Amino acid sequence: MFMFLNCQQLVALILELLLFGKPLWVVSSSSLCKETSSGIDRPHSVSITEFGAVGDGLTMNTKAFENAIFYLNSFADKGGAQLFIPKGQWLTGSFMLISHLTLHIDKDAQILGSTNSNDWPVIDPLPSYGRGRELPGGRHRSLIYGCNLTDVIITGDNGTIDGQGSVWWNWFRSETLNYTRPHMVELIDSKDVIISNLTFRNSPFWNIHPVYCSQVIVQNVTIIAPLDSPNTDGIDPDSSDDVCIEDCYISTGDDLIAIKSGWDEYGISYAHPSTNIIIHRLVGQTTSSSGIAIGSEMSGGVSQIHVEDVHFFNSNRGFSIKTSRGRGGYVRNVFITGVILSNLKVALKFNGNYGEHPDESYDPDALPSIEKISIQNVTGKNIKVAGHLEGIEGDTFKHICLSDITLDVRSKSPWICSNVEGFSEMVSPDICKPLEPKINPDSKCYQMSNHLRSIRPRNKGTSLQ
Ligand SMILES: *[C@@H]1O[C@H](CO)[C@@H](O)[C@H](O)[C@H]1NC(C)=O
Ligand SMILES: *[C@@H]1O[C@H](CO)[C@@H](O)[C@H](O)[C@H]1NC(C)=O
Ligand SMILES: *[C@@H]1O[C@H](CO)[C@@H](O)[C@H](O)[C@H]1NC(C)=O
Ligand SMILES: *[C@@H]1O[C@H](CO)[C@@H](O)[C@H](O)[C@H]1NC(C)=O
Ligand SMILES: *[C@@H]1O[C@H](CO)[C@@H](O)[C@H](O)[C@H]1NC(C)=O
Ligand SMILES: *[C@@H]1O[C@H](CO)[C@@H](O)[C@H](O)[C@H]1NC(C)=O
Repeated sequence: MFMFLNCQQLVALILELLLFGKPLWVVSSSSLCKETSSGIDRPHSVSITEFGAVGDGLTMNTKAFENAIFYLNSFADKGGAQLFIPKGQWLTGSFMLISHLTLHIDKDAQILGSTNSNDWPVIDPLPSYGRGRELPGGRHRSLIYGCNLTDVIITGDNGTIDGQGSVWWNWFRSETLNYTRPHMVELIDSKDVIISNLTFRNSPFWNIHPVYCSQVIVQNVTIIAPLDSPNTDGIDPDSSDDVCIEDCYISTGDDLIAIKSGWDEYGISYAHPSTNIIIHRLVGQTTSSSGIAIGSEMSGGVSQIHVEDVHFFNSNRGFSIKTSRGRGGYVRNVFITGVILSNLKVALKFNGNYGEHPDESYDPDALPSIEKISIQNVTGKNIKVAGHLEGIEGDTFKHICLSDITLDVRSKSPWICSNVEGFSEMVSPDICKPLEPKINPDSKCYQMSNHLRSIRPRNKGTSLQ
């Protein structure tokens, strides 16, 4: 591994070893995602066709998926196994993964979600939500589902998972759903997960939902849904840690990435934060929501969020923090740098009055603590409003640090600020009063921790040889 690193990376790596002495975020080419211990190659592989599946887009294959995965369970303690999905259209209902499994969706292979809601069983709500996100009670299980797993890889040669979500969007619009809509992929209480080299289309609800997970990599994934499809979030790390999202293109009807950690009193008592999340090289579009959002469910706390090199175009908002009285929890230590925006309504948005409570039992005195949010190196063309930064009365959002921001803004009041305080430098157009103080060593601005910064490869031209 070391021989693929240049001198500078090696020095940084050794430094990091000395300083932190824990598992490394190893650089492979210019990736920031940690290599996991699991090998990509499994000693055993079967094709879904060996279990009677028919790839005609019409035959239901749920049983074939279940039987194949049941069979492969016997290889879990022998290095695991691969389930290969060849070219074809493989219609299925929800199915469950197992540990030490690679699901490989080949080029020109499509897994299609059933359009019959009975093929999506109803499961319990998550403890940190207390109910389904859109309706009280249970929720439909995701198309690809896993719970208590370790070492899972969902990958392919840009194969497709298509949720055929339009039936669900219509049930949502006509208010004929009985339970909360299903996600495309949901993994609960799992670790050592890779989702890579795939295309996701038309999810009924959120696309990729790791919840109570750790060590999750989402890499080189394309996620597409119509811009007006309801709540088709791209990737929602939820009460999860050590998540790395890299080289993704997302264009959907809601937040491209939303970092969450549970809802009001349920999230507060479950107390499972999202922490150490890296987002690197994300490109995308959303006309209804944000490129990257934190919240609105953030009651278990959100911290150590590092975003670098993102590009949002023709979108509603760039970066948002959404919260409310009753949420409790915190959002702190967020570092965002290298942002390019074009044709956006609002570049930066804090909403302290988001509302939406799970039930009447939430505690209106549970105030979220929002602090140490650093945003630097942002350029934007054709932006309507630079920042709409609204904290909570009696609960100021603190240590907001903005630097090196140049936005070409049309509005006469480019910054609208209330109940926020912090620092800034080199911001154009001129920043609002509460953020006017110059950044100085005492500003307590959150800085990117070296574990990300130090190992970032420089441009080839400047690296030591
Ligand atoms: C996951 O693990 C928990 C705790 O060990 C257990 O209660 C639950 O039934 C497991 N769920 C599944 C689907 O295996
Ligand atoms: C991304 O996925 C495509 C298709 O699966 C593949 O050809 C390409 O090499 C991948 N890129 C990276 C950086 O993994
Ligand atoms: C994967 O396929 C989608 C279309 O299905 C395409 O837009 C995307 O560029 C492809 N990704 C890669 C990495 O080749
Ligand atoms: C909701 O329940 C009704 C009554 O059981 C059923 O007819 C309908 O198909 C269900 N709707 C969905 C979207 O599952
Ligand atoms: C994605 O595909 C590329 C090209 O086939 C491969 O080199 C890479 O290892 C794959 N990435 C992952 C994380 O599976
Ligand atoms: C600012 O961000 C852009 C876009 O990601 C990047 O190309 C540029 O190198 C960054 N500049 C600095 C000084 O980091």
